[in-house]
Amino acid sequence: MGAVEAICDAPVDRYALDPAPLTKPVAKPKAAPAASAPSVSVDPVAEAQALAAAAPDLEALQAAMSGFAHSDLKLGARNLVFCDGNPQARIMIVGEAPGREEDRSGKPFIGEAGQLLDRMLAAIDMRRDHPDPARSVYITNILPWRPPQNRDPSADERAMFRPFVMRHIALIDPDILILMGRISASTLLQGNEAITRIRGQWREVAGRPALPMLHPAYLLRNPAAKREAWADLLELQARLRTVT
Ligand code: URA
Repeated sequence: MGAVEAICDAPVDRYALDPAPLTKPVAKPKAAPAASAPSVSVDPVAEAQALAAAAPDLEALQAAMSGFAHSDLKLGARNLVFCDGNPQARIMIVGEAPGREEDRSGKPFIGEAGQLLDRMLAAIDMRRDHPDPARSVYITNILPWRPPQNRDPSADERAMFRPFVMRHIALIDPDILILMGRISASTLLQGNEAITRIRGQWREVAGRPALPMLHPAYLLRNPAAKREAWADLLELQARLRTVT
């Protein structure tokens, strides 16, 4: 039938509960339009920019994102997924958007792709929760809410959450950014280059070195690409030694 996810523990017969939707709606008398009502058009990106700029710390940024009402994604999500890892880390990873497990737990990258990410980090002796900033990472996503059925974030969604991500980067102030996957790279670099072309090539985001990498979910679908991911991890390790 196209249903792929259960949202309750037991079925609910909504027809028995509430017959109202089956009855014909009674037409409400139309209110006369207010002659001088101002037409207020809100620009979600400008509002996101203002809210993000006004957030003095991570807690305030999280609260601002939680209260930001211009994305319908919030309506279908269970939890805002803000971050995980060590806020003092030298490396900040920006992924795409929460999936089902992340939506349930409120933490980024904990499903299958996240477990692969943890193994990739372990291969270069790093851990998201390591107390040493040189051996830990801080993780967030472009979108804080799960898109339905894990669909790609739309251009509008990416544009309206970008200011929050930029503020997040400024507050964490990492030495190095990892743009994890196509959506993260295209949103933060504001370009359309294929991730398979630009992975492993140093770019700049918010005045700091940024390394686009293949997303672990892509690696799960294309295991042969793990060779490239390994090369990028070694590149990252080498760069860490030179960047102060
Ligand atoms: N993929 C992402 O990009 N982010 C997550 O948090 C989980 C999966």
